[in-house]
Amino acid sequence: MGVLKDTGQIEYSRGLEGVIAALSSISAIDGTQGKLIYRGIPIEALAKYSTYEETSYLLLYGELPTKENLEKFEREMRELRNLPEKVEECLKELPPDPHPMDILKVAVAHAALYDPDRQRACREGVMRKVIRIIAQIPTIIAYYHRTRSGKEVVPPDPELGHAANFLYMLHGKRPDEEEAKIFDVALILHAEHGLNASTFAAMVTASTLSDINSAIVSAIGALKGPLHGGANERVLKMLDEIGSADKAEEYVHNALKEKRRIMGFGHRVYKTYDPRARILKEYAEYLSNKYNDRKYIEIGEKIEEIMIRELGKKGIFPNVDFYSGIVYHFLGIPRDLFTPVFAMARSVGWAAHVCEYTQNNRIFRPRAYYIGPEYVEYNPIEQRR
Ligand SMILES: CC(C)(COP(=O)(O)OP(=O)(O)OC[C@H]1O[C@@H](n2cnc3c(N)ncnc32)[C@H](O)[C@@H]1OP(=O)(O)O)[C@@H](O)C(=O)NCCC(=O)NCCS
Repeated sequence: MGVLKDTGQIEYSRGLEGVIAALSSISAIDGTQGKLIYRGIPIEALAKYSTYEETSYLLLYGELPTKENLEKFEREMRELRNLPEKVEECLKELPPDPHPMDILKVAVAHAALYDPDRQRACREGVMRKVIRIIAQIPTIIAYYHRTRSGKEVVPPDPELGHAANFLYMLHGKRPDEEEAKIFDVALILHAEHGLNASTFAAMVTASTLSDINSAIVSAIGALKGPLHGGANERVLKMLDEIGSADKAEEYVHNALKEKRRIMGFGHRVYKTYDPRARILKEYAEYLSNKYNDRKYIEIGEKIEEIMIRELGKKGIFPNVDFYSGIVYHFLGIPRDLFTPVFAMARSVGWAAHVCEYTQNNRIFRPRAYYIGPEYVEYNPIEQRR
């Protein structure tokens, strides 16, 4: 018999912490300085000067587009927004109560069946599929939401950019320029973040040489969880539960005593303030003042103060999910759509990593360190108790 148990030194990292599983030139995080770059460009510069479309091009193709290339890319994204008729019909038939992340998973898989490029495995074909997925996810989310609310769907407006068009399809009216810009920045900030759980899930699926659509569906499933993309939705639930800033101290104190996690804090890589949270906090503050409704921001800032005081020394600071919920709240995005909106933004990061990794592919196949018994006699069912 061969060796069932590993002998000698083993390297084991729970949750793969610190393990380098791929080479990548898409983004980098400095978790101690709180810095994030996409293809070398600081996130702050992209938030200030770029658009989601331009950032998507950068992530997918490795460099900022020329004016001509950007126009072509934007045109393609706008052309590919419509859903196949069968998918649109099916969205109307789906039950109104599952979590919208489950709907997104089903609809993305469904749309793939009608993808005219589904058989094209060449780079051009894969890119076309990728752009189609990025373009269709907002339409899926908005159509499902309108339908479950008993409203007519609002078809995409080819005159609007990606962010503005989503808000338009969701609310049935064009957003003002300022709100469209804020939402666009939120999408840029969520577009990419290295080998987080959902991106890794996409890469694992793609590394078997499965198709890009299956990879994206895997990623959506992983993003849904509350330790990942699902945290943003829970932040607002927590703010509601707390009710007012003066109750924050007691709430956090009790939560920490009971070893409960405060959603929107902590990160596997950042051991300081998440740079995305810093930008989103400014917008959350701005919108709270604009709408003269400071309840959430005041509770949020109080929680931040307490958490940094209590857990800052452990490297626990606000992450991207802490203030994004407040921003989305003021943009009129329903709470259970926060995570689907995260998926909408992150779809490009998933695709960029899948494309990059599969160019020099090796199937992911880690091992588990076996800690069970080495030999157990098979016990017939009649003798078991
Ligand atoms: C994101 C997250 C999963 C990272 O997990 P991780 O790298 O495995 O970190 P750990 O779970 O090992 O946490 C390290 C320590 O910080 C504590 N901690 C981490 N996040 C915390 C939080 N949000 N609230 C309270 N304590 C937290 C842990 O209890 C642990 O304490 P211990 O050393 O006394 O056991 C984790 O911080 C978390 O659950 N955050 C809340 C969910 C969230 O906001 N997710 C969105 C991420 S962008």
